[in-house]
Amino acid sequence: MTPLTLSASVGDIASDLPGAAEVFRRNGISFCCGGALTLADAAAKQGLAPETLLDALQALIDAAGRDAPQETLPLIDHILARYHETHRDELEWLIPLAQKVETVHGDHDEAPLGLTEALIALHDELDSHMLKEEQVLFPMMRQGGHPMIVHPIGVMRHEHDSAAELLREVERITRGLSLPEGACRSWTALYTGLTKFSEDLVRHMHLENSILFPRFEAA
Ligand SMILES: [Fe+2]
Ligand SMILES: [Fe+2]
Repeated sequence: MTPLTLSASVGDIASDLPGAAEVFRRNGISFCCGGALTLADAAAKQGLAPETLLDALQALIDAAGRDAPQETLPLIDHILARYHETHRDELEWLIPLAQKVETVHGDHDEAPLGLTEALIALHDELDSHMLKEEQVLFPMMRQGGHPMIVHPIGVMRHEHDSAAELLREVERITRGLSLPEGACRSWTALYTGLTKFSEDLVRHMHLENSILFPRFEAA
């Protein structure tokens, strides 16, 4: 997880820390196009006290994972039911909805052009990633670990980075998931659904990166 300092980039924190995207949106901080911006610069730009921003983010770190099961086996079951299944269900309707909005509003100044393509890439990436966890990594964990387990874990961490990169791309294409004036119902439903999906994905990867994986890497 990206260490929380004033020199950390808002883009990295938004894709690493559950709830951070919401804190940034609320404070008018863009993390899509200005994702390389540091927390210090973002706070200065918005006229915020840097400590206020750090405190809000620290509270999220303290809260992350608090509601998840503590024991490893129930935690794996929770990740599968609450995140793997949910991502698959949601992408199934988000992709055609994105396609519809791009087709119908293609000539609108703020149309999210390229969104369908980015979501299909995210779908393909996640689908193979989750299958590897379901068929290889999680069964190893259920058996208490494996001498070589750090290798598949390393691959999963790397794939999380690629998924986070695609999330930032979605953020950029949709200008931070902000709707244009008078957006139709489909466009609104699309961005509402994508906001929830993005939050879930960040939370899912955080549970694995910061809670589940370290238990086996340390052993
Ligand atoms: Fe997972
Ligand atoms: Fe994962």
